[in-house]
Amino acid sequence: SALEDLEYSAVSCRAYSASLDEFGGVGDGVTSNTAAFRDAVAQLSRYSDDGGGLLFVPAGRWLTGSFNLTSHFTLFLHRDAVILASQNESDYEVIEPLPSYGRGRDTEGGRYISLIFGTNLTDAIITGENGTVDGQGEPWWGKFKRGELEYTRPYLIEIMHSDGIQISNLTFLNSPSWHIHPVYSSNILIQGLTILAPVTVPNTDGINPDSCTNTRIEDCYIVSGDDCIAVKSGWDEYGIKYGMPTKQLLIRRLTCISPDSAVIALGSEMSGGIEDVRAEDIVAINSESGVRIKTAIGRGGYVKDIYVRGMTMNTMKYVFWMTGNYGSHPDEHYDPEALPVIENINYQDMVAENVTMPAQLSGIPGDQFSGICISNVTIGLATKPKKVLWNCTDVSGFASGVTPPPCELLPEKQPGTMIPCNFPAEVIPIDEVKLQRCYSRRKNV
Ligand SMILES: *[C@@H]1O[C@H](CO)[C@@H](O)[C@H](O)[C@H]1NC(C)=O
Ligand SMILES: *[C@@H]1O[C@H](CO)[C@@H](O)[C@H](O)[C@H]1NC(C)=O
Ligand SMILES: *[C@@H]1O[C@H](CO)[C@@H](O)[C@H](O)[C@H]1NC(C)=O
Ligand SMILES: *[C@@H]1O[C@H](CO)[C@@H](O)[C@H](O)[C@H]1NC(C)=O
Ligand SMILES: *[C@@H]1O[C@H](CO)[C@@H](O)[C@H](O)[C@H]1NC(C)=O
Ligand SMILES: *[C@@H]1O[C@H](CO)[C@@H](O)[C@H](O)[C@H]1NC(C)=O
Ligand SMILES: *[C@@H]1O[C@H](CO)[C@@H](O)[C@H](O)[C@H]1NC(C)=O
Ligand SMILES: *[C@@H]1O[C@H](CO)[C@@H](O)[C@H](O)[C@H]1NC(C)=O
Repeated sequence: SALEDLEYSAVSCRAYSASLDEFGGVGDGVTSNTAAFRDAVAQLSRYSDDGGGLLFVPAGRWLTGSFNLTSHFTLFLHRDAVILASQNESDYEVIEPLPSYGRGRDTEGGRYISLIFGTNLTDAIITGENGTVDGQGEPWWGKFKRGELEYTRPYLIEIMHSDGIQISNLTFLNSPSWHIHPVYSSNILIQGLTILAPVTVPNTDGINPDSCTNTRIEDCYIVSGDDCIAVKSGWDEYGIKYGMPTKQLLIRRLTCISPDSAVIALGSEMSGGIEDVRAEDIVAINSESGVRIKTAIGRGGYVKDIYVRGMTMNTMKYVFWMTGNYGSHPDEHYDPEALPVIENINYQDMVAENVTMPAQLSGIPGDQFSGICISNVTIGLATKPKKVLWNCTDVSGFASGVTPPPCELLPEKQPGTMIPCNFPAEVIPIDEVKLQRCYSRRKNV
């Protein structure tokens, strides 16, 4: 479709719209469009308080360096639009590390700004007709592996300190590092994304909600060399000090392929806390683990009130995995007395096939992971499974209707009767947000 007859669904519609080619954009795959994107956003930002602006990216291959979004703004990609991320480091400004991490994750000090970046925004939307953002991450992955990077790799999208974010109906490919990173933000809707990276490359997580409140992620298909979704809230003493949890997170209808990582990871950076996470209707194929908890002495914080129901898994190393000794500290100044609290973790209604080891559940000595509930789970083993099927240390809770039978630290609650684990009935507010039908209204800007 052309800009003139756009029709799409969004949390909010815009009064003004313009197309990237009106700002000198050239979609030939080689000309840089950094100036065109920046100019377009600057022009449309004049309408932030007057009905909002939409930037249409037409069919074509649009090479660009980093650009920022603005408030009450929509970036819309035509189905044949491909935004190609520049591979030149000088197209990414170096910005401060996140306060809740204290340093970049790849290197100490600063980090390259993300390809599409926003901070202190209200109501920002990135959507389209399944157009593509290609991170062209290959040179970054190589430089990272060889230790040649001066700063931490950029993400494809990072939105900080913002309220009201929609990212939907798009394909993201080959990010240099994480693909989608909302941080210190609230009221976030992520819908209908395809995220693909080679399964052999480092840290290409799909979606990382980080110190965010009220987030809904649904209908996504993710193939990654790292976690498909990684829920975070800051790292050791920096995350404890910043103290902003991730809470009210709903994940549904996710399909994940992650041979070396988790379908959903909680942590390992969880020092601001992670609470009230609900995941349902998840399909995992050839993944290392299901919903995994990763933490360490020094993290502090908590992971609590986690509810997972309805998972189908095929070819898994572990179905259940909790790790209390993940290690990985920002520096030597972490507090060895800062112990994470892990409690009220519920898993139910799951079927898994071709599993090497049903569960590796390792709490922290003197800091038991408690209130673990597993119900109605059937696990079929691989041809050569591990000898010990359930290995549990420093955990407590119970199981009901689980095969093969769990470890003795998770005793059968009431033998012969299925007692389901909890799943809250009340709705997370973002689940009540409805999309509007939007039509572009042509106005010169
Ligand atoms: C976006 O995807 C949803 C399903 O996830 C679909 O209902 C909707 O029509 C799509 N919108 C566009 C503009 O393609
Ligand atoms: C984008 O925003 C960041 C953070 O405010 C700022 O450092 C950077 O200069 C901005 N980039 C552009 C091109 O305006
Ligand atoms: C990267 O961009 C800088 C600044 O625009 C330029 O001087 C340099 O030649 C570019 N490097 C490559 C490899 O294109
Ligand atoms: C953005 O919001 C954060 C958190 O509220 C605040 O600390 C920061 O000063 C704001 N930055 C700008 C540029 O307004
Ligand atoms: C979007 O594009 C990706 C990549 O081409 C494709 O795998 C996916 O099926 C498409 N999604 C929809 C809803 O058409
Ligand atoms: C079972 O998993 C192994 C890897 O652990 C894989 O090679 C094999 O193809 C899987 N078999 C089936 C039937 O999926
Ligand atoms: C057990 O889980 C399966 C899905 O794996 C579901 O179809 C079934 O209804 C559940 N049974 C009970 C008693 O909840
Ligand atoms: C069981 O877990 C403990 C603690 O993580 C570990 O030290 C031990 O090697 C594991 N045993 C087996 C048989 O996997």
